[in-house]
Amino acid sequence: MPDRRPLISGNWKMHHNHFEAIQSVQKLSYRLTKDDYEEVDVSVHPPFTDIRSIQTLLQSEKIPVELGAQNCHWEPKGAFTGEVAAGMLAKLDVTYVIVGHSERRELFGETDEMVNNKVKAVLKAEMTPIMCVGETLDERQADQTETKVAGQVVAGLAGVKPEQVASMVIAYEPIWAIGTGENATPADAQAVCALVRSTVAEKAGADAAAAVRIQYGGSVKPGNAPELMAQPDIDGALVGGASLEADDFARIVQYRLGGD
Ligand code: PGA
Repeated sequence: MPDRRPLISGNWKMHHNHFEAIQSVQKLSYRLTKDDYEEVDVSVHPPFTDIRSIQTLLQSEKIPVELGAQNCHWEPKGAFTGEVAAGMLAKLDVTYVIVGHSERRELFGETDEMVNNKVKAVLKAEMTPIMCVGETLDERQADQTETKVAGQVVAGLAGVKPEQVASMVIAYEPIWAIGTGENATPADAQAVCALVRSTVAEKAGADAAAAVRIQYGGSVKPGNAPELMAQPDIDGALVGGASLEADDFARIVQYRLGGD
């Protein structure tokens, strides 16, 4: 079984201007230890306007936290007012780009095809996509979780080579659990993450499925992180609300110490 390093990512959404972002990363770096960085990959995903400041901070202070973005456009350049190209993020030493977050899909009309184009653009720019999938409450209640999630995985990975799939991260985020304080039970989250992995196996082969990292996201907190992270198909967490407080986020990164 390949070594899937845990990845804990903080999705700050539209929070923290660049001054607040610098403070938050500094605080986080005071909390995290060498042992944490040895065990876990950590990324922060600030708004675009903060990225250059955080890049400079991470490099000048040699903080081994990876820089992430929350979105990008799929075209390399052009007349797309307000958009940011993947290559521009790569130039700022961004490592991970969240693609197809449910808020982008629901509030900004991102389709599976757009998500697929973004995944390819991020890979082309030599960064790692964190591709989000997940069902709504209605879909869950209508027993459509598997169809929805497997469909999003297949569509998002269309035309992506197996070795590229192997390098990716897929985040399973049940939409009803995002920012609501509700979360999937560890067993439910595990079942859907296992489905994501078997869908990857069908699409890209067993090696890619064994290597791809799968995160769970949706109301992850210091208290529930240890049990979620103990599930065999959960390799990390995509954390929204709790990543805004450096103390809470550090305790999630330190899930192996037992949570609350
Ligand atoms: P939450 O958000 O942790 O606040 O539920 C997760 C996400 O949207 O990535």
